Parts: sequence; C-alpha cells; structure tokens
Amino acid sequence: MDNKLQSVQKITNEYINESNDKVKNASHAYGVSGFSALLAKKRGLNPTISAVAGLLHDISFIRTGTYDNHDKQGADMAREILSGTGLFEAEEIEIIYNAILRHDLRQEQHEPYDEVLKDADIIYPYFTQLPTEPNPSVADRLAKVLGELLHAG
Ligand SMILES: [Fe+2]
Ligand SMILES: [Fe+2]
Repeated sequence: MDNKLQSVQKITNEYINESNDKVKNASHAYGVSGFSALLAKKRGLNPTISAVAGLLHDISFIRTGTYDNHDKQGADMAREILSGTGLFEAEEIEIIYNAILRHDLRQEQHEPYDEVLKDADIIYPYFTQLPTEPNPSVADRLAKVLGELLHAG
C-alpha cells in the first residue's frame, strides 16, 4: 500500500469528477501516471514520485478546462496539493513541481524525473490513440522511448 500515491489519487479523482470530460481526463492522468512509474523503475528512479507527477501533470487543465499556462499553473497547484497532504518531503515536492513545470518542453532535456514525465506524456497517447503519423516534433523522443521499452535488454 502506498499512502502517498493513494492520497494523491483520491484528490485527483475529486477534481476529475468535477471536470467536463471525466473519462478522458481520468484515462490520461492514470495512463501517464502508470507509464511514468514504469519508466522511473526502468531508469532507477523512484516510481512513486513519477507516478504522482504523472497524475498531477495536467491538473490545471482538469480544473480549468484550458491548456493556457497549464504547466506553470499546474506546477503551482501540485505543490499546494502535495504540501496539503503532509506526506511529502520538500525535495519530493520540488522534483514534482519541476517535472510538471517543464513537461511541455519536449524538445529540451532536463532532469531525469522531468524526462520521465515528458516521455510518459507522449507514450501513453501513442499506445492508446495509435496515431499513424506521430507529430514530427515528438517523433525523435517517441522513437527513443519506444526503443528503450521494447528493444532494450
Ligand atoms: Fe500537459
Ligand atoms: Fe498530458
């Protein structure tokens, strides 16, 4: 049982339930969370931290219905939510804050936890929506993470 993850799931569920497109929001939040945990485990990082970042990465969109500034606003919301649980260390909150803040900077490289979230945010939609032609701006990142997951020993 992971209290940290479960407590954030509970809070996320409440926001999803108040949102316009509940199924899509739930699917994306939980899908990206799951792939984030998988990638974190594979890269020697803490899967819970990444699972939480994945759950909350689009929390601003879920709450406001717009992607405008959703990275910065979502990072701020996540910080507030995580502080409110009383379950997270300051360092953990900072890692999650930064990952959410940078999650749309897909053409750049940042810290390991940032990269896990960026990759998961691409790979989950890839597997569930199966685009025939991936957006060229993420094609390199997608190819790299697919290689990592499917072909690495
Ligand atoms: Fe996003
Ligand atoms: Fe997303």
